[in-house]
Amino acid sequence: MGYPEVRMRRLRLNPQIRNLVRETQVDTSDLIAPLFIVPGKGIKKEISSLANQYHLSVDQCIESAQRIRDLGIPSVLLFGIPEHKDARGSSACEAHGVIQRASEAIKREVPGLLVISDLCYCEYTDHGHCGIVTNGDLDNDATITVLQEQALSHARAGVDVIAPSGMIDGMVRGLRSALDGAAFDNIPIMSYSAKFASSFYGPFREAVDSTPTFGDRRTYQMDPANRRQALREVALDVEEGADILMVKPALAFLDIIREVRDKFDLPLAAYNVSGEYAMVKAAAAKGWIDGRRVMLESLLSIKRAGADMIITYFAEEFAELARRGETDI
Ligand code: PBG
Repeated sequence: MGYPEVRMRRLRLNPQIRNLVRETQVDTSDLIAPLFIVPGKGIKKEISSLANQYHLSVDQCIESAQRIRDLGIPSVLLFGIPEHKDARGSSACEAHGVIQRASEAIKREVPGLLVISDLCYCEYTDHGHCGIVTNGDLDNDATITVLQEQALSHARAGVDVIAPSGMIDGMVRGLRSALDGAAFDNIPIMSYSAKFASSFYGPFREAVDSTPTFGDRRTYQMDPANRRQALREVALDVEEGADILMVKPALAFLDIIREVRDKFDLPLAAYNVSGEYAMVKAAAAKGWIDGRRVMLESLLSIKRAGADMIITYFAEEFAELARRGETDI
């Protein structure tokens, strides 16, 4: 049967029927809010490349974490900018490092909020690469060893979930065995399984000052052209014991999200990255797009592609709109 008996517009005639037939919905409970922690006290400084996102000292991050929890957002993802950077990123494992102190403070002061920590060395090394560099390239196996140390340090500080973001071969297996060996067998690993070498990370690298001083990340992060390879990366993470998978970035990789969703049964996160956020903010500030609607449409597309959860700088803004019932596109 077709037109004139079939009229698709019948189901679009008013908001009520549109609500009833809507297939996908973004909920505040799907979201994870990134936080950038810096040394010092009383610091809350807007990040120039990321409107409404802040560098926060530990005392200030508690306030943000409280607001995030009270809005109904279940989780934060912590990034740290240390006082000192060196070739080996030694400040990443300090018991009183920024992430360790932030995690302890949030667990103590903001019960009920899940703390995920980004596990990587690019914020801590002076060369900006994601681990130990030997002969001008990232040394895979040496990096696993230091990642294990970093994971244990985060675990001791009370982090709930570890999220390794380095695209190091074997990192999930290495981290699982280190955590289990230290009686942290209840800490899940959310692996950045298919992370692409993307220019959409630009504003983030400005925020944490992690642009590599030489070379780039293409020897470890994936070529954006590769779909089959992404599935292989994901399959390896599943085999190595990942608990949650991730595709990153999100919007230019919706096909990968869909395919991972269809082929694997693990929970799937998507990272709506800094460049995706900054572009919306910049165009909205110019009056070229409706920032609210473009945000909602973007988050919806990520959910529709198959993500269960979305890491996004829009988390608070979305949650505030949702609370006021203003999430209709
Ligand atoms: C690595 C890491 C990066 C991001 C998250 N974790 C940067 C990179 O790989 O260069 C990017 C996040 C974003 O752009 O929002 N620690």
